[in-house]
Amino acid sequence: MNEAFFDKKEYKPLDRVDGRLKVTGAAKYSAEYALPNMAYGVLVGSRIAKGTIKSIDSKAAERAPGVLAVISHLNVIKIPGYAARGVHPSEPPTGGQPLRVFYDNKVYSNDQPIAIVVATSLEKAQYGASLVKVQYDQQEHQTDFEANAKNAVIAAAAKKNPKSPTADYDRGQTDAFETAPFRIEAEYVLPTEMHNPMELQAITAHWEADDRLTIYDKVQGTKTTQKTFAKEWDVPEQNVKVIATFVGGAFGNGLHSWPHESAAIIAAKQVKRPVKVVLTREQMFTMVGYRPRTWQKIQMGAAKDGKLVAINHHSIGQTSTYEEFTETTLMQTRMMYASPNVSTRYRLLPLNVATPIWMRGPGEATGAFALESAMDEMAHAIGMDPIEFRLANYTETDPDKNMPWSTKYMRECYEEGKKRIGWENRKLKPGSVRDGEWLVGYGMGTGTFGANRGPATVKAELDLEGNLVMHCAITDIGPGTATAMVQVASNTTGIAPEKITFHLGSSEFPNAGLQGGSSTVNSVGPAVQAACNALKEQLITMAAAKSGPDFGAAKPDDIMFEKGEIQLSGKSSAKLKLSDLFKQNNIQKIEATQESKPSENGKKYSMNAFSMHFAMVHVHPFTGQVRVKKIVCCADAGTIVSPKTAESQMIGGATGGIGMALTEDAVMDHRFGRYVTKDFGDYHVPVHADVPDIDVYFVNKPDLLADPVGSKGLGEIAIIGVAPAIANAVFNATGKRVRHLPITPDKLL
Ligand code: MOS
Repeated sequence: MNEAFFDKKEYKPLDRVDGRLKVTGAAKYSAEYALPNMAYGVLVGSRIAKGTIKSIDSKAAERAPGVLAVISHLNVIKIPGYAARGVHPSEPPTGGQPLRVFYDNKVYSNDQPIAIVVATSLEKAQYGASLVKVQYDQQEHQTDFEANAKNAVIAAAAKKNPKSPTADYDRGQTDAFETAPFRIEAEYVLPTEMHNPMELQAITAHWEADDRLTIYDKVQGTKTTQKTFAKEWDVPEQNVKVIATFVGGAFGNGLHSWPHESAAIIAAKQVKRPVKVVLTREQMFTMVGYRPRTWQKIQMGAAKDGKLVAINHHSIGQTSTYEEFTETTLMQTRMMYASPNVSTRYRLLPLNVATPIWMRGPGEATGAFALESAMDEMAHAIGMDPIEFRLANYTETDPDKNMPWSTKYMRECYEEGKKRIGWENRKLKPGSVRDGEWLVGYGMGTGTFGANRGPATVKAELDLEGNLVMHCAITDIGPGTATAMVQVASNTTGIAPEKITFHLGSSEFPNAGLQGGSSTVNSVGPAVQAACNALKEQLITMAAAKSGPDFGAAKPDDIMFEKGEIQLSGKSSAKLKLSDLFKQNNIQKIEATQESKPSENGKKYSMNAFSMHFAMVHVHPFTGQVRVKKIVCCADAGTIVSPKTAESQMIGGATGGIGMALTEDAVMDHRFGRYVTKDFGDYHVPVHADVPDIDVYFVNKPDLLADPVGSKGLGEIAIIGVAPAIANAVFNATGKRVRHLPITPDKLL
């Protein structure tokens, strides 16, 4: 008996189980479904940012070859959910109401979809759309954040719930800052950023019967999308089928339902054919959310020994005029450091823009830019090493919730990160290290995100050849969910990964929430474990009946499968061939469906994943060019079940952080309230040449209070803290503090 075999706590790197499908083009994304008799929809967007539609002349479009319909508020069919469409239970904590496309003649933002042209080919629909003439009664719009900042309001969510992350928050004395020995006060601006995944948002809508809808849709939650559209069309949930087998990146823009989805579904109903709508890259800037422009001010006070005295953190984030999008911008400030006095104020600024939505590290990535920059500014003001300063304010318990951490291994991250980046080469005095003609700087930033877990159900089937097949409705937006779940199952059963399949991305499969908020491994992983253990229970019962007392006393943890045999741990050398056992019982396979839910531990422990990012940059003193030379990402994310894809996630997050720090900026021309950045040519996401060696370190210690897999999630912490690490490194290189992202060369000259 190989006891090590039973102690399979170590997860080894595994190639993506769907990697071959992806790189060979065999993976099917939502724009790639071709249905018989399918038509194509092209959206017409408004050319004003505020006002009403006076008239729509669609005659020429309707006469154009192949055009089947031009649908707008003037001729749209009745949509039952529009009468009382609220915010469905899984929507973000917004007040107001999502945009009801084609509902009336009102225009709330530029490029708001106001009509859809449906034709027999994409080209014919595009041509038809070009012929639609719209007249408006234009009203004066407000899109300029700075010009309107005084109109910021408290969020409805905050008024409803004083415990909301957006409610006014005071810990200790509110005036402690005033008398602190060291004080800094600074304002930080994060511009609007766009998710811009490679895959464009796309949907193919097919009414299979009058009350039965199938959509192939780029979404992050099949079940949540099913609920939304069942409600919108007032049909039973099981009548709406949502397929999202592959999603080519999303970063949050698939967490909400958007007008183009409703438009495609309406069009399919109206022309009585399946309708496909694929957004253009330009429409990706206006129709599917974005990270909201946010202004922040931090007042920070500290004593000479580096102990924080006070942090006052104020933020204003933009939203649309019809929906209140809020995020957890100020949460890290409340819980990361042991400051006795903390005040936060969160405000919203409604503008004539489309609604923002969560974007990777939502809230925290924005808040951490300000907080972690301010921490660096204060360390500099005191003359302390920024890591020493943070360690002086290390918290052993959550100072906000007054609860112990479930786990927190940030000291390991500080130590390892310092070593790997070469922190000993950093000088306290900015501008004192050079490499040839380049100025060299080192910086770091920390991040955190709640270890959020939700209910999930997995169905598992085991056949007599030892093949394990699982199903779950969860989506995979790219991190490698199937790979991770195969690893959890392999770890639980001993079955080799190549004999395990994990099917996901369909609302027909057992329930799961959204893939968002770093919650997949710790929500679905435990359901995989539970389903595997339920299979083992069945086998133990069968084995005990046929093969005696050894198996009779066994628990799921005592058995493992290897090479088609069931092995029992401990002294017994009992072994059973799976196929024999199945044949004796006259069955081909066994199956189990198990749900796993969050425990009560969340009431006793504060559960968070933590990250720490280190950057080494070169800045050219004459051109202001910043080259990120090295990044080290350290994470305390609990158990890493899939080391290879987890590392890739961290690399992806850090890449997003480089964009946030140096290049990404959605620029609007306020004369029109319209973005001038509308493609990858002028909205710069980092390319290979911008991304240096990214070194990833995981503490990899399980958090079994968080969930039975021990994972705390890492999708968000991969980006949270990266931008300030780079900004702090730029300061260390140059002595110039840039508080308005992105750090473009002009700001350094
Ligand atoms: Mo994300 S912002 O949890 O897709």
